[in-house]
This record gives sequence, C-alpha cells and structure tokens, in this order.
Amino acid sequence: MNPLRHVAIIMDGNGRWGLRYKNSRNAGHKAGLNTVEKILKETVKNKIRFLTLYAFSTENWKRPKKEINYLFDLLENFLINRIEELHKQNIKLKIIGFKNFSPKLNKLLSLSEKKTSKNKKLQINLALNYGSKTELIHAFKKIYKNKERVNEKNISNYLQTKDIPDPDLLIRTGNTKRLSNFLLWQLAYSEIFFEKKLWPDFNEKDFNRVIKSYKKIKRNFGNI
Ligand code: IPE
Ligand code: IPE
Ligand code: MG
Repeated sequence: MNPLRHVAIIMDGNGRWGLRYKNSRNAGHKAGLNTVEKILKETVKNKIRFLTLYAFSTENWKRPKKEINYLFDLLENFLINRIEELHKQNIKLKIIGFKNFSPKLNKLLSLSEKKTSKNKKLQINLALNYGSKTELIHAFKKIYKNKERVNEKNISNYLQTKDIPDPDLLIRTGNTKRLSNFLLWQLAYSEIFFEKKLWPDFNEKDFNRVIKSYKKIKRNFGNI
C-alpha cells in the first residue's frame, strides 16, 4: 500500500456545470465550493497531511471581469466564514501564487495564513494566481542572484512549495487531460487521475475510489 501524504487537485468543470444546470457559470463556482468542503472533510478523515487546490491560475485573468470578481468574492466570504473553524480543526492555510488582489483580500489571505501557521493536522495549499512557469522563473532568478548552484535541491528550495513533499497523487476533474501550468516540477513522479465528472459533481465516494486505486499502484520511480 502506497503512503499518501500529499494530494493535489485541479478543480475543473465549474463553469460547464453551472451553464448546464443553472444557466450561469458563476452558479457552478458556487456549487464547486460545496465540493471543496466535502473533499476537505474527507482529506482529514483519510489523515492526509497536504492538500493542494488549484483555485485560480495566472492564465485565468483572461476571463471576464464579472466571473473573476465573483470568484474572489466567493473566496473572501469563505475565508471570513470558515477560517475560525479551520483553525479550530488544526488546519493550516498556505497560499501559493502571487498575492496581488484587492488590498482587502490580500490582507485577509495574509491574516488567515498567519493565524493558522502553527497548525499541524492538515496543510491546505491554495493555489491562487498560481502559474508553474512563473514560479520556476522566480526560482532560477533567485539562484542566479545568490550565485548558487543550479541543482534539484536548490530549485525545490526556491519554489513556493518549499518544505512540502511533492504530490503523491494529482486529480483533475472535468474530463480534460492537461496540467494547465500547475506544479510542473513537483508533479514529476505523481500518479495522475483524470476524472470525467465536473468538479461540483465530484464527491467523497469518487475521492475515496481514486485513493484506493492510487494505493495499489506500483510506483517505480525509475526502479523496477
Ligand atoms: C475551474 O472551473 C475553476 C476555475 C478555473 C476557477 P472552470 O471555471 O474552468 O470550469 P469549466 O472548465 O469552464 O467548465
Ligand atoms: C485550470 O483550469 C485552473 C484551475 C482549475 C484553477 P482551467 O479551466 O483554467 O484550465 P484550461 O484553461 O482549460 O487549461
Ligand atoms: Mg476549466
């Protein structure tokens, strides 16, 4: 049985779900938040230490302003309503990606990170305005500036996932088989599951089915 320390998820399919059932992409984003809650609970139940959720990519700025604003309002309300509870559950929140949102949201994100920084049960890495290529460029620039060696250890150390083990498992919902600039370095040896269901339809049972399959995989890491 493979140990499972870190699950990463590309939560895709909200827009299509919203259009299909409510005639609004934003309704899909709202429904997607319920799935986040479900998966969070299940992650704790499964005693997984790290959960990385892709919530907004550096490329998602291309979307209509109305949708972007709705997404950040959802996030803001989620944090205002839920951070206390997450803190009580010993959950740590870390943002990966560059925090360049409204001053109000930036502050809320920093406060939420600070408040939960010592928590130990589960670490949620929320990828917001995250892009793997930008992250890597940033790392290389730091190595160059500090005149350090270009090697695996140094590159990993300058990524925003420093001190976090690489994901064992990547799940992408929404029936699309691509990485969309997510954790390109960190996913080098992850087991990848592309799920047909749209994110708002994905549930605890699906999550546990994937985990069960993951645990049985023979992970070679180049060996035999
Ligand atoms: C993923 O769902 C969530 C975000 C990118 C914020 P999408 O909004 O990409 O949903 P689809 O892929 O358009 O259905
Ligand atoms: C990836 O989904 C980003 C998030 C889930 C936040 P997208 O829906 O933005 O990916 P592409 O653009 O279809 O590749
Ligand atoms: Mg999408």
